[in-house]
Amino acid sequence: MREKIVAGNWKMNKTLDEAVALTSDLSESMKSSAKVKVVVCPPSLYLKPIQDVLGENAEIKTGAQNCSEYEVGAYTGEISAAMLQSAGVSYVIIGHSERRQYFNEQPGTLAKKVDLALQHELIPIFCCGEMLDIRERNEHEALVRSQVEKSLFHLPAEAISTIVIAYEPVWAIGTGKTATTQQAQDMHAVIRKHIAGKYGQEVADRMPILYGGSVKPDNAKELFSCPDVDGGLIGGASLKAQDFMAIINAV
Ligand code: PGA
Repeated sequence: MREKIVAGNWKMNKTLDEAVALTSDLSESMKSSAKVKVVVCPPSLYLKPIQDVLGENAEIKTGAQNCSEYEVGAYTGEISAAMLQSAGVSYVIIGHSERRQYFNEQPGTLAKKVDLALQHELIPIFCCGEMLDIRERNEHEALVRSQVEKSLFHLPAEAISTIVIAYEPVWAIGTGKTATTQQAQDMHAVIRKHIAGKYGQEVADRMPILYGGSVKPDNAKELFSCPDVDGGLIGGASLKAQDFMAIINAV
């Protein structure tokens, strides 16, 4: 059985007090539901205080939203994979479309981030997905295959086995427009087949591939019922404990 994961990407939202309150609410509600791995990705500044709220051996793991492509040194404002590891962080989102779009992150940079994350025992949640015009030109499958290839295919099989991929069509992020179950399933199958072509079916069958893009309590169950959808990367709906819990319980 593949691992099921629901990760909340809080993006640049909430004050420290609000973030702590949300974490306490989630941690309370989590006690009774544990068949899925749950990750919260707050702004990096809040990772440590949030871990304190969660306590040791918590059901909920923490993830960063980004890490530096550099190991250490004079890179003002950056946070390295080593720092995240030293702070007890378990996951890191790499290549989110907002990082690609607004911070001009290129495939080669993302490959370096993936390498550093793995060296520091962080689990990368590697994001891929097409813009609307690409889908309209029917080039989405080729684009996503190339995103995966350019940032992940330099890895040996043991390394790729620890990675989580999130397919997030850019036109569905924060827009309230979700991919249909058929669109999600088709793309997840394309990604899994591409992984299988390079690393073999066994590796591909074990890889969790999450769907992201306007997942809400009322559409989560349908999306998660697709055979190749192994959970979700949730933005807006992860900012409210009740909605995020409903999505977790839909897995
Ligand atoms: P959304 O964001 O759920 O608000 O669409 C998803 C994401 O960006 O990871």
